[in-house]
Amino acid sequence: MATKKTVSASEPETAVKPKTTKTAAKPKATAAKPKTVKKTVKTTKTEEKKKILFVASEATPFIATGGLAEVIGSLSTALAKTGKFDVRVVIPLFSDIKKEYKDKFSYMGNIYVHLAWRNQYCGVFSYVKDGVTFYFIDNEFYFKRPGCYGYYDDGERFAFFSRSVLEIMPFLNFYPDVMHCHDWQAALAAIYLKTNYCFREEYQFIRALFTIHNIEYQGQYSMDLLCDLFDIHGSYRYLVEYNNCINLMKGAIECCERFSTVSPRYAQEIKDPYFAHGLDKIIRNNEFKLTGILNGIDDVGYSCEHDEHLFANFSAEDFSNKAICKKELQDMLNLPQKPDTPIIAMVTRLVSHKGLDLVTNIIEELLKDDIQFIVLGTGDSHFERYFCDLTKRYPDKFSANIVFNGDLSRKIYSGSDIFLMPSKSEPCGLSQMIACRYGTIPVVRETGGLYDSIKPLVNGYTFANYNAHDMLYVIREAVSAYKNKEEWTKLMKRAATTDFSWSHSAKEYENLYFDMLK
Ligand code: GLC
Repeated sequence: MATKKTVSASEPETAVKPKTTKTAAKPKATAAKPKTVKKTVKTTKTEEKKKILFVASEATPFIATGGLAEVIGSLSTALAKTGKFDVRVVIPLFSDIKKEYKDKFSYMGNIYVHLAWRNQYCGVFSYVKDGVTFYFIDNEFYFKRPGCYGYYDDGERFAFFSRSVLEIMPFLNFYPDVMHCHDWQAALAAIYLKTNYCFREEYQFIRALFTIHNIEYQGQYSMDLLCDLFDIHGSYRYLVEYNNCINLMKGAIECCERFSTVSPRYAQEIKDPYFAHGLDKIIRNNEFKLTGILNGIDDVGYSCEHDEHLFANFSAEDFSNKAICKKELQDMLNLPQKPDTPIIAMVTRLVSHKGLDLVTNIIEELLKDDIQFIVLGTGDSHFERYFCDLTKRYPDKFSANIVFNGDLSRKIYSGSDIFLMPSKSEPCGLSQMIACRYGTIPVVRETGGLYDSIKPLVNGYTFANYNAHDMLYVIREAVSAYKNKEEWTKLMKRAATTDFSWSHSAKEYENLYFDMLK
């Protein structure tokens, strides 16, 4: 658990020092000298900014296992850019955080965090990026392990993390106006605020917002752990108990001021048992505080004009270099270089709810057509093996890439023609938006954020039912449309210029925060 107190001097300007009471109590601050007045005005101005604290388990560019990290990284930046918020983010200091960043973090100090009978070291590091202050909670016993999740004691790890978030507030002298918690790993922060902290003066005005990025992962634990591990008093059992288990997502929904999901359609869907993984009743009971806000993407980072990972850059005005991206991609993946054969691509976790059952059902039928098919991603071993087998049997048509590779993903987004995303459910989905940015036309199932972001014939193709042949029919529609170069180019242009930036959605979060603070 011991942590080296490595204070980096490489970028001192990124260090954030906790305000000391000494500074705050300086009698000079009240003096009427012009200089001091100026200072006071300045302070008031920063204080006018509403204080937002994101609590999450991952954030780009530091560590990412999925879309959650991208949203934390890009939404926080977009909110800070409005100039209306002092945005800070807190995540665990996982050992897999990229070294290039870790070396630049500043050590701020440590406290001890009490959780039931445990009393644990909690180091705090910080780093400022694009106007957002990131805090990293250090405890090597909990976080010095490969990856982020999947350990027997994940419940304890994220309980410690969530408790630390509340405990570091006095240390940082930062009490947010809105504590915005994301997914079950941060659910306990909202729960602890309600059960243990909101009675204290400094914490009484903190409002909790809880965002569900995926309702499938709820954080469910045995009821026995309520006091001993989660340190929740028996009188609050009713808040977290669901179906004879502790359900942390349920607890956060009950305890938060408001909750949200990552698309308006998903906000509707999760009231239905088909989508809710057992929580539909809780969602319906708390519907009055639910909002759906569609995610945006980092449209500067994902840009066909500037992305350095591409074989060649192009623009929505001139797609001609996209042909180079395609040719080089085919070459790289050992597919024949056929400029007029459409490439259909999937960049996805290889799990059933991403619609892979539909794909495996019709793929051999589809491979009879003049197409090439590329898959990139890792996941369930039976899908991995199945796609590798297809590559062996159809080497000229199918390419399975069983890796998680950001560079290759961008080469695939830019070099393909059609992007397939037939998810059974999809809270938001970012890949369909990213594909659009590179002029690659999405074919999606009408669910969650796919429904909200892709409109048939405007910027993609859609199908409604979770049915393999409905999907095949629409893929073939897209493939035949691809042959009409003039119309296809117009479609590519509409896709590439669809506004998926945060500008609209950040505004919606802004309104939600202000509404909560009324
Ligand atoms: C989860 C969801 C995905 C969403 C992402 C970011 O990974 O499954 O649909 O885009 O969170 O909110």
